[in-house]
Amino acid sequence: MSKNAKVLKKQDIPSLAEYIASDKCKNIVLMLGAGVSTAAGIPDFRSPETGLYANLARLNLPYPEAVFEINFFRKNPVPFYTLAQELYPGKFRPTITHSFIRLLAKHGLLHTCFTQNIDVLERIAGVPDDKIIEAHGSFASQRCIDCHKPFDDDEMKRKILAKETPKCGKCGGLVKPDIVFFGESLPDEFIKAIPNVAKADLLIVMGTSLTVQPFAGLAERAGASCPRVLINLDRVGSIGRRPNDLVLLGKCDEVVSKLCRELGWEKELMDLWAKTEIKTKSPVEGEEDEGEDEGEVKGEDEEVKVKEPATAEDLVGAITDAIGRQLKLDESESKTDQDKDEAAEEEAAKGTEKDESSKAGGKL
Ligand code: OAD
Ligand code: ZN
Repeated sequence: MSKNAKVLKKQDIPSLAEYIASDKCKNIVLMLGAGVSTAAGIPDFRSPETGLYANLARLNLPYPEAVFEINFFRKNPVPFYTLAQELYPGKFRPTITHSFIRLLAKHGLLHTCFTQNIDVLERIAGVPDDKIIEAHGSFASQRCIDCHKPFDDDEMKRKILAKETPKCGKCGGLVKPDIVFFGESLPDEFIKAIPNVAKADLLIVMGTSLTVQPFAGLAERAGASCPRVLINLDRVGSIGRRPNDLVLLGKCDEVVSKLCRELGWEKELMDLWAKTEIKTKSPVEGEEDEGEDEGEVKGEDEEVKVKEPATAEDLVGAITDAIGRQLKLDESESKTDQDKDEAAEEEAAKGTEKDESSKAGGKL
C-alpha cells in the first residue's frame, strides 16, 4: 500500500472504530505516558500547573528532574524516597483507559503495550504481563546501585513505606527500585520489543508529551501506512504529520469511552473498570494496618486501600511539601553535623579525644 493511501475513511472516531472492528486491524501497539494515570490521582511530570516538575521547581533542588537522576541520587537519595513513598503502588485505582487496554487484550487485538509509567496500573487493571513493556522500569524489583545485588521485595516495601533509605547488605551501597533514572540504560525487554512497533496495524499514543528519548522515537517506527492515533490533552511529537495520523485532543478516559461507544464495547469497558474498584476501609482500620499490606499490587478481587488525597493536584502538593521538608531537614542536619564537627575539632585541638558521635547521623 502506498503511504498516502487512506486507511481510515475519515480522520474521526467513527472511522477509527470501523477500522478497529475490521479484519485489517489485528495488531494494536500502544505507547503510554503519565497522562493515562492522572485520572487515578497520580500527577504527570510536565503539565504546567499540576505536573511534578513545575511543582518541584520551587524547591531547593539543582533542577526538578534531579529527583530521577542517578548522580543526584548517589549524593542525596532522600527526595526520591520521599516521592516513592507517596507513589508506591497499591494505593491507586486504574483508570478507564487502563481497562480499555485490558479490553483490547480481551478482544485479541493488543500486540504490545509500551508504557513509560512506573505505577503498574496496567498490571493491576489486568492487562496480561506478557503484553506490557515497562520501558522506564517499575517498583517490582530493586538492587544495589554499586554491586547490583538484588534486594528483598518485602524489606524494600517496608523501608519505602517507613521512609527509610534501604542499603545493600553486601556492600552498604544505596538500593534503588529498578526504575530507569536519567543517565541509566533502558531495560533489555524494551530494546528487544522495539521491532514490535513495525508490526502494528494501529499505533495509539496516549497521555505522553513524547519528550523523553528513546521512548518517543518509537512512534517513528510505525509502518508508513499504519494509522497513528494520538489521544492527549495537547498536540505532541510528530503525530499529525503523516496522512494516516489522527489526533484526538481531550482526556484519555473521555476519548476512549467515545471510541468504545462507537465499537459497541461500552458495557464491557465499564464492567471491566468496575472490577478495579478499590474497597475503601475506614481511616482507623487503614491506620492500623499501615505498612503491612499497603503498597502491595493486588488482584482485582482483593481489597486495596484508597490513598487520600485523591486528585493528582492534591498529591503533587503533598509530594512537593514532603520533599521540601526533607531537603530542609537535610540542610539543618548537615549544619548540625558541621557544628558538631567544628566543636569536636576544637576539643581535639585542646587535646581531648574526638568522640565518634560527632560524626554520626551525617549525610551520605
Ligand atoms: P509528561 O508529564 O511529560 O506528559 C504527560 C502528557 O499527558 C502531557 O502532554 C499532558 O498534557 C497529557 N495529559 C495529562 N493528563 C491527561 C489526560 N487526563 N488525558 C490526556 N492527556 C493528558 O509525562 P510523560 O510523557 O509520561 O521518566 O513523561 C515521560 C518521562 O519523563 C517519564 O516516564 C519520566 C519523566 O521524567 C523518568 O523519570 C525516567
Ligand atoms: Zn551492594
